[in-house]
Amino acid sequence: MRETVLVLDFGSQYTQLIARRVRELGVYSEIKPFSEPLERIEEMQPKAIILSGGPASVWDEGSPSLNPAIFSLEIPILGICYGMQITAHLLGGRVERSTKREFGPAEIEVTDGLDIFSNIPQKTRVWMSHGDRVLELPKGFVSIAKSENSPVAAMKDRQGRIFGTQFHPEVVHTEAGREIISNFLFRVAKCRGSWTPKSFVETAIKEIREKVGGSHVICALSGGVDSAVAALIVQRAIWDRLHCIFVDTGLLRLGEAKEVVETFKDLGLNLVHVDAGKRFLDKLRGVEDPERKRKVIGEEFIRVFEDESRVIKAEFLVQGTLYPDVIESVSVRGPSAKIKSHHNVGGLPERMNLKLIEPLRELFKDEVRAVGRELGLSSETLERHPFPGPGLAIRVIGEITEEKLGRLRLADSIFIEEIKKAGIYNDIWQAFCVILPVKTVGVMGDERTYENVIALRAVTSLDGMTANWARIPYGILERISARIINEVKGINRVVYDISTKPPSTIEWE
Ligand code: XMP
Repeated sequence: MRETVLVLDFGSQYTQLIARRVRELGVYSEIKPFSEPLERIEEMQPKAIILSGGPASVWDEGSPSLNPAIFSLEIPILGICYGMQITAHLLGGRVERSTKREFGPAEIEVTDGLDIFSNIPQKTRVWMSHGDRVLELPKGFVSIAKSENSPVAAMKDRQGRIFGTQFHPEVVHTEAGREIISNFLFRVAKCRGSWTPKSFVETAIKEIREKVGGSHVICALSGGVDSAVAALIVQRAIWDRLHCIFVDTGLLRLGEAKEVVETFKDLGLNLVHVDAGKRFLDKLRGVEDPERKRKVIGEEFIRVFEDESRVIKAEFLVQGTLYPDVIESVSVRGPSAKIKSHHNVGGLPERMNLKLIEPLRELFKDEVRAVGRELGLSSETLERHPFPGPGLAIRVIGEITEEKLGRLRLADSIFIEEIKKAGIYNDIWQAFCVILPVKTVGVMGDERTYENVIALRAVTSLDGMTANWARIPYGILERISARIINEVKGINRVVYDISTKPPSTIEWE
């Protein structure tokens, strides 16, 4: 059985970070809601359990709790913030309700340099974010660190099996955070740490072979990282029985279709390139509404894909679903409203009666990149900015024409080339141009011009859910603007978008 550390989620914004830190240390970890039934937890046989933080107070009515029998399972437990308070509360300690939140950097003094604090400096900076604090320890527990605000900044039981920290070791601002988590995993829980991209690929290959048997599998390659890595794993398992279909919508960036085809042919993928640009443009003629564009493209995509795959007689479809999409998160924000309908191959499996293979279901984005590297994908492909399914269609505001697409492609390639040259491409989550249906006056030589505007959009983000505009240095913006106006016909003005998400979105449509 695979060595697993279970993270029970109490709704902290850092829960995914805990799981990622554990995995970075080579131990597979999974997130489950705090309400996961005890029998299911026992069946998983985790090597250790980490209780996340959360926004509640143990004194709130209906605050999230645990079956206290979890503490008798003889499994090492680390409670972080709310996780520590709920541990103290359930085991008979006293948690003080505090009206003031302690938030931000603090210093702790380690008073017991064993177990989780082995090889940690006695005084060290940590990141606090809590309301309540533990005032009296449960029976059998001792304090192992203190801070100015909390006499119990960390605690452990006498056997050294159950631990709690008032601060967040998973956050980079906690200087010794990695060491503390590592101590918990390897000293306390005696993990081996055998979770690596290589071991992941080996297991995935075995599982795919068992699932697929002698059947055929199809995959829609988009050129993005997720579908590429998913396809490569399946290819390693069943080779020529994987059929990849690359639908070229005519809405891709400059030179992108050619690059995708060459990259994947080089990697030996069994690839069909469908040049469907004309079909998509015909369907999009006269369409201005963003949601209508998405719908038209989504439907046409399915039609093209169906036409191409009919002859293959596949039983399975590969999808690049990632772990963050499958976690049942304890949402503190409530159900999120549908803001834009995202086009993907969602409707296909039911319509074509296909079973799904999702080789990346267990991975975070950075792990997908590590696996991709293991499978021979270039950094260029792995670090490429995300690109929306409807492509440039939602970056031509209003009606789409070949002419506007051509101008947009050229402007976009200049933007990307310049930020790569400046060495800031990888600091930016997404950078692209938008062509506006607005004409403004300019002067070129002695002549008055009346031409279109290009907006530059570049954002920093962790997951695309929230975003900030990238602080690109003025000198670089200046060069990009000058080049676009000089080199792209029909453009005489460039503006930079300085809106954050929310309230704006990343794409303009
Ligand atoms: P927004 O514009 O909603 O974008 O802030 C968040 C992220 O999603 C991408 N995006 C899409 N991706 N189909 C996709 O596959 C879509 O229809 C779509 N719309 C936006 C966007 O590029 C950003 O990364």
